Amino acid sequence: MSVRVILALFLTLAVANAANVLLLPQSAHSHCLEMVGIANELTKRGHSVYAYVSYATKALCFDGSNVTVIRFNMSKEGMDHHYEFMNKTAEAIFNGANIITSGLAFGISYECEYHCQGALSSSAELKRLQSLKIDITLVDAMIACNCLYYIPRFLKTPVVSICSFIPESNTGMPFAFNTNPLLMTSYTSEMTFPQRLLNLLGTLAFNVALKLAYVANPTDVTILKQYVPAEVFDIEKDEMIRESVLFLENSDTILEYPKAIYPNFIRVGGITTHPPKPLPKDLDKFMSQSKSGVIVVSFGSIMKNAPPYIFQKLLKVFQNLNQNVIMAHIKNENYGNVKTVKWLPQNDVLGHPNTVLFISHCGKNGFFEGFYHGVPIICTPLHADTFSTAIKVKYHKVGSSVDIRNSDADEILKIIKDTLNDASIRKNMKKASAIFHSAPFTPQERAANAIEHVSKFGGDHLKPVSSKMSLIAHTMLDIWFTLFLLTSIILYIFYRLIRGCFTCIFSRKQNTTRKKKKD
Ligand SMILES: *[C@@H]1O[C@H](CO)[C@@H](O)[C@H](O)[C@H]1NC(C)=O
Ligand SMILES: *[C@@H]1O[C@H](CO)[C@@H](O)[C@H](O)[C@H]1NC(C)=O
Ligand SMILES: *[C@@H]1O[C@H](CO)[C@@H](O)[C@H](O)[C@H]1NC(C)=O
Repeated sequence: MSVRVILALFLTLAVANAANVLLLPQSAHSHCLEMVGIANELTKRGHSVYAYVSYATKALCFDGSNVTVIRFNMSKEGMDHHYEFMNKTAEAIFNGANIITSGLAFGISYECEYHCQGALSSSAELKRLQSLKIDITLVDAMIACNCLYYIPRFLKTPVVSICSFIPESNTGMPFAFNTNPLLMTSYTSEMTFPQRLLNLLGTLAFNVALKLAYVANPTDVTILKQYVPAEVFDIEKDEMIRESVLFLENSDTILEYPKAIYPNFIRVGGITTHPPKPLPKDLDKFMSQSKSGVIVVSFGSIMKNAPPYIFQKLLKVFQNLNQNVIMAHIKNENYGNVKTVKWLPQNDVLGHPNTVLFISHCGKNGFFEGFYHGVPIICTPLHADTFSTAIKVKYHKVGSSVDIRNSDADEILKIIKDTLNDASIRKNMKKASAIFHSAPFTPQERAANAIEHVSKFGGDHLKPVSSKMSLIAHTMLDIWFTLFLLTSIILYIFYRLIRGCFTCIFSRKQNTTRKKKKD
C-alpha cells in the first residue's frame, strides 16, 4: 500500500470516529481559555468543536482556534450588569474588600444567571445547536453557576464538567478533610489539629451552602420545554452535575497538593500552556538585550481598572531594578528599563530564555504558564482563588507573595530582590517544571484522550457509587455519628455501673461505721 492509501484510510477512520463537541463556558475569559486549550487538541484530532457563548464573551478567546462560535444575545439588563460587575469588582478589590465577605460572590451568581437566561431563551440559536447533532458537551462547572447544564439535557448529550476547582459533593470524590484544604482558606496540605477541625467544618458548610444555592436559585427553562418533553428537566441542578461522565479539573499535584480521586476525575492542570512562539522583533530585542534578565509582569484584566497610584508605586520599584521589566498595562509606553504593552503574549515571553521572574496576580492560567516555563513567581493575589495559589507558591518554595495594595515600594523591592537572589527557589521551580514535562501526555492530550474514551464507551464504568450518595453518607457523618452514639451509650453504662458499685460499697462502709459508733 502506498503512503497515500494508508493516509486516506487513516483519515476515513479518523473521520468515522470524529465527534461533534459543544463548549459551554461561562462569560469569564480565563474559563473560556481553559476550554479552548482542550478544543485545540480535539480539532487537531479531527473532531468538530462548537462554542455557544454570549456577545459579552471576549472574542479574543477563540482567536486562532478552529472552534465554530455560535453567539447568543443577553438582555440589555444582563449586558449592563456584566460591565458594571467587572468595574465594581475592581473597585471593591482596590478598596481593600475581601472578595468573599464583600458579597461579590452574590454578584457572580447574578452574572451567570443573566448569561444563562440569554443562552436558554435564544430560540433560533438553540434550534441551530439541535441541528448540529452534538455528541458530547463540555460544561463550565463554575461554582454556584450551573444552569448551563440544562443545555446538554435539552440536546440529550453526555456531559463533561470542567473547572479549576470542582467540589467533592458535585463529583462523588472522597472527602479528605485532613489533607485537602478548602479553597480560599490559608491552609496547606499540612494542617494542625485546629486547622483540620476548622477545615472539616468549613468544607461541610461550603458543600451544604452549595446544595442550598442550587435549590434557592431555580432556572427558567420554559423555552427549552417547547422543544423537548418537560419531564427531561425534572431534576435538581446538582444532580445534573453529578451525572457528568467525566470531570476535568485545571489542577495539578506537583505545585498544588496530591489528592485521592476516582477514574472519572482527571487533573489537567496547565490546560492553557504550550511551547512559546517566536516574539515580535521589537519585543524580542527588549527581551534579549538585558544582561541581568527580564521580569514579566501581568495582573490580568483587573489591573486595568486599578487606581493610578498602584501603577506609580510599581513603576518606582521596577525602575530600581537591574533587570528589564515587561508589563501588561493599559498602553504601550517605555520608561527606561520598563516597557508597558497593551497586549502581552504572556506564554511566549515567559518561554523566552532570558526571563528570570514572573510577577502575577496568580490566576490559575498565569500560574501554570510560569510553572510550565520553570520561571519563579511572585504572586500579588487580589481575588478569588489567587490567595490559595499564592500560599501554594510559598509552600512549595517556588516563589513568594506580596500585597501590592498595602505594601510600600521598599517592601515590594525587597521581596523582588530576595526572590531573585534565592538560588533554591530557582532550583525548586526548575525541578517542578521538569516533573511536569516528564509526564507521558500533555494536559490537553490527557483531556482529549479521556473525552474520546467516554464518547466511545460512556462513563458508567468509571463512576463511583458515592456520586449517588447523600452528602451525609458521602462524608460518612452517619457512621461517625453512630459510632459516637454507641461509644457514649457504652461509656454511660460503665459510668452507671461503676457509680452504682461505689455507692454501694461506700454506703455499706458508712453503715458499718455508724453501727460501730452506735456500739
Ligand atoms: C486550524 O486549522 C488550520 C487549517 O487546518 C491549521 O493550520 C491550524 O493550525 C489550526 N489551528 C489550531 C489552533 O489547531
Ligand atoms: C442582539 O442584540 C442587539 C442589540 O440589542 C441587536 O442589534 C441584535 O439584532 C440582536 N441579535 C439577535 C440575533 O437577536
Ligand atoms: C466601567 O469602567 C469604564 C472605565 O474603566 C467606564 O468607561 C465604563 O463606563 C464603566 N461602566 C459601567 C457600567 O460602570
